[in-house]
Amino acid sequence: MNPVAAAVGEAAPAKVNLYLHVLGRRGEDGYHLLDSLVVFAGATDQVEAVPAAGRIAPSLEVEGPEAGALSVEDPARNLVLRAARALAQEARIGAPAAAVTLRLTKRLPVASGIGGGSADAAATLRALDRLWGLGWPRARLEGVARRLGADVPACIAARPVRMGGVGEVLAPSPRMPARLGLVLANPRLPLATPAVFGARAGGFSAPATLPEAGWRDAVGLARDLATLRNDLEPAAIGLCPPVAEVLAALRALPGCLLARMSGSGATCFALMADAAAAAAAAERLPRAWWRWGGGLYAATA
Ligand code: C5P
Repeated sequence: MNPVAAAVGEAAPAKVNLYLHVLGRRGEDGYHLLDSLVVFAGATDQVEAVPAAGRIAPSLEVEGPEAGALSVEDPARNLVLRAARALAQEARIGAPAAAVTLRLTKRLPVASGIGGGSADAAATLRALDRLWGLGWPRARLEGVARRLGADVPACIAARPVRMGGVGEVLAPSPRMPARLGLVLANPRLPLATPAVFGARAGGFSAPATLPEAGWRDAVGLARDLATLRNDLEPAAIGLCPPVAEVLAALRALPGCLLARMSGSGATCFALMADAAAAAAAAERLPRAWWRWGGGLYAATA
């Protein structure tokens, strides 16, 4: 198989769970059954795949402002390398084509509920699909993604999507508003997803009822989302009380329509009328936090 390009780059946008209902637990492995509407923010990591002559296996280089937080002591466990190995195996790509350097520019905080690792894995699959000239349909890449983590399939398309099952069942999202702003804020405290699921107390939620026609504007979206929840928020606040401060700060921003935690935290988001309002509002948050304001990565489902 001939590589189609000298190097291929793919953005890995942050995943934001607009709501997250925990519906139950799966018998065989205790994974939680979810209903969640997910969008992707213009805040991104970047993955670049470069052919590496003279090597025999994929290797990883990490740079960028959040690189330090990533454990590269054991790169074999990194989702980027696991994704590369999984795709090479599935597509029967051996040396020399399988020898690529994967350059990950890490800008999204690690272990923060916005799926950075999952997004990186999905971007790796997309990049190598192009580099190796596979041209696989999205569903086939999602099949490989499923083996890497519950959130990875949703990150392949990186467009608004409704997640079911343990995260791997993907259904179309109702239409998102043409203009929508997002502020993301993280108190720079990592939260381990299994710990947050483990600390969750109480019963289970019902799936949400969403308007089929979708939303015309951010106000309508926020109004509907206000009737829904992130069921992991109380557990995350219990484990990491500063999450409550982040939510309070987001709610106090001018123009905030709704503030909520994403995923298992600790990153929280605020909805705003548009990207410019969100970018301006993010500047008002404490500098010690990781903060970002802008629009969706891709608005259409
Ligand atoms: O699939 P992923 O590696 O992202 O999941 C990390 C952990 O989060 C799992 O080991 C599990 O403890 C928890 N989890 C869960 N239910 C899900 C997704 C994740 O319990 N649907």
